[in-house]
Amino acid sequence: MTAPWWKGAVVYQIYPRSFCDADGDGIGDLPGVRSKLDYVSALGPDAVWLSPIHPSPNKDFGYDVSDYGDVAAEMGGMAAFDALLADMRGRGIRLILDEVLAHTSERHDWFAESLKGEEGRKNDWYVWADPKDDGGPPNNWLSVFGGPAWSYHPARRKYYFHKFLKSQPKLNWRDPAARAAALDVLRFWLKKGVDGFRLDVANSFLHDDKLRDNPPIPPNLRSAHHWAHAPNMQKRIHDSNLPENRKVLDEVRAVVEGFDERFVFGEFSEEPGLIGEFVGQTHGLQSGYTFTFLDDRSYSPAIFAAYYRFLKDRPHVWPCVTFSNHDVARTVSRFGGGKQDDALAKSALTLLMSLKGTVLMYQGEELGLGNGAIAQDEVRDPVGELYFPYSKGRDPARTPMPWVRDAAHAGFSTAKPWLPVDARHAERAANVQEGDPDSVLNFTRALIAARRGIPALVTGDIEILEASEQVLAFNRILPEQTVLCVFNLSREPATFALPRMSSVSPFEFGPGGWGFGGPGLTLKPFGAFFGQQI
Ligand code: GLC
Repeated sequence: MTAPWWKGAVVYQIYPRSFCDADGDGIGDLPGVRSKLDYVSALGPDAVWLSPIHPSPNKDFGYDVSDYGDVAAEMGGMAAFDALLADMRGRGIRLILDEVLAHTSERHDWFAESLKGEEGRKNDWYVWADPKDDGGPPNNWLSVFGGPAWSYHPARRKYYFHKFLKSQPKLNWRDPAARAAALDVLRFWLKKGVDGFRLDVANSFLHDDKLRDNPPIPPNLRSAHHWAHAPNMQKRIHDSNLPENRKVLDEVRAVVEGFDERFVFGEFSEEPGLIGEFVGQTHGLQSGYTFTFLDDRSYSPAIFAAYYRFLKDRPHVWPCVTFSNHDVARTVSRFGGGKQDDALAKSALTLLMSLKGTVLMYQGEELGLGNGAIAQDEVRDPVGELYFPYSKGRDPARTPMPWVRDAAHAGFSTAKPWLPVDARHAERAANVQEGDPDSVLNFTRALIAARRGIPALVTGDIEILEASEQVLAFNRILPEQTVLCVFNLSREPATFALPRMSSVSPFEFGPGGWGFGGPGLTLKPFGAFFGQQI
């Protein structure tokens, strides 16, 4: 049996608002994406994941959907989508939509109907609950974006639950009609021919129907991570992450697998230990990602080793591997501890392409971009609005793609973009990097192309061999091929004792920077060695 196409595929995430603006309104759109398909093809991904494209009041930039059956006018509307899909098909690039079905926008008709509270007319499509006797919210659940996860609505004299913004009411997946409507959204787009979905907060479809308080994490067990963000002080087991969530994911998967060769992976935003419940060969979604690597700032071998050792006990999980997306600081900024350089960018891209999983690579990662600069009056993300300058929110990872160094707004748009283009990004524009054989862009193109010829890196299992202060070593294993991968993840030279040197045949992949010597291998800063076990 051949593996499904998505196993070990490279998926390129496009955040369309910031990719390319074709109509000159400062906001990226689908004709803009379409105009850059030569660039995407040259990069060589199997699929593109498009961040949300549906009509939205954009309180959370598309992650608050007001109509699941359409494409936002500012994105170019449905005609632009059809044209993009057809062009991508022609080029053999698959298209994955980002569906946000745990909540809707408050502007969705469903919510307007639910607000009326009339029996049988969507009154239970959202999570409504009476105030406590003192008028306070029904329980202690907290919003990921700050404050209580409940807002009072005078129209029904009740509170409604929102895990994120007040303008993102939680859809009640316990209501059969609401659930059926959400599943119909998937069917609609599958019939249109999309190749799959990234499901937003796929751990959060169900809430506890008794509305029990989340228990606190005992103060003596709290780390900086817990204290940094109030919702993390709770064990998130009643607002989200319920064991029964798995059954919902089974239903989602059955819908998706009712169509040929489709793929559905989820974002699992907290309680990463539950990934084995929610993803599997025969249950839950086909794949998914946690924030283990996305939150990491150490780039230390131990982080990667611990995650794959944890997955070793869950062999049914085929993970997505990802270092960067629209929600977190960019890879080289996070892993670089303040110092960004191409050697780090190339090392991280090589590791991304070598670890077990379906690869999710975020736009701009292939250019080695760091965070874009954002001034206070340029903040657009509600999270940045809440906490600036303590946290600048997610805008620094969402600034526009730099296409042409010397063009206005680096060629992203002819008008002032919705977020500023960083001048340092313009220096790293695609047109500059295309002309430089040593650029991160050309490196990434070669890497993705070469990976296709190394089956163990695509679909192989993983066995961690060593995680020292500096060195991460592992095998990727298929019955017909085993590849030894050794990374120096530090800025200092390192050594690695090769188990049996004569039994490994080195080949070129990634940054190189290794030699034989010392106990076996010497590795330059951010060097990497690859060898086929003979
Ligand atoms: C997910 C998205 C994030 C969004 C949130 C609410 O975490 O990735 O961008 O703000 O869900 O939809």
